[in-house]
Amino acid sequence: MERVKRLLAGARRLAVLTGAGISAESGVPTFRGPQGLWRNYRPEEIACMEAFLRDPVLVWEWYLERKKGIRAVEPNKAHHLLSRWEADRREAERGDFTLITQNVDGLHGRAGSKNILELHGNIWVTRCLACERQARDESLSYPELPPRCSCGGQVRPHIVWFGEMLDPEVLQASWDAAEGCDLFFVIGTSALVYPAASLPRVALEAGAAVVEINPEPTAFSDAATVSLRMKAVEFAEAMG
Ligand code: OAD
Repeated sequence: MERVKRLLAGARRLAVLTGAGISAESGVPTFRGPQGLWRNYRPEEIACMEAFLRDPVLVWEWYLERKKGIRAVEPNKAHHLLSRWEADRREAERGDFTLITQNVDGLHGRAGSKNILELHGNIWVTRCLACERQARDESLSYPELPPRCSCGGQVRPHIVWFGEMLDPEVLQASWDAAEGCDLFFVIGTSALVYPAASLPRVALEAGAAVVEINPEPTAFSDAATVSLRMKAVEFAEAMG
């Protein structure tokens, strides 16, 4: 911890990548944890275009259940720590801060983070399959499933599904942040899903120190400059 505090105090350009683990203590189940299954489906079987084309009602039921679960929880101390890092740096006009998340739950925004690169989209945004119109959508139920756009097209969650490309601009901005930072935190991700999983390595290769916060070892742990076997909230509390 002392080493991490020193690294943080000396960092000019800071970037953070978060995954499902940062929301775990808020009560959002992780993907690869014991609660990752829903009606015996793996996320990979539901969060994909094939599933939506075959059974859009099933896919929407899954998302509506997840939306209800997320609505019922609150951001935790780790989300708040990151929003404070951003605000402190902005106020002090000291250095850069970039928050990159794989999470679609919107909890970073609710904790007050402003500039968030949402690599995998956001569950509170919908997109029309026909006209591509995006809309903020807090609904927890719809008169019919799948919901319809005003153009008549089917509406889907604005989430990057398995087999789909990430938004190239969001990915480029994340890459630039990883390459340009001097300190990179990776918090609560299994570091298995690419291209997000490349970002800590990009940062390392560009010469940054990389700190991993995860209660379990990951495929990245051995490479990390510092790997803390801690839960995200425990880390936030230790940071004070
Ligand atoms: P995973 O479920 O793969 O990994 C969650 C990680 O969080 C694991 O390494 C856990 O050890 C760790 N973890 C658990 N509790 C924690 C805690 N309290 N504090 C810190 N870490 C904790 O989730 P992701 O890595 O986010 O994609 O998965 C990446 C992507 O896989 C997701 O964004 C999702 C999924 O496919 C999409 O939805 C597109």
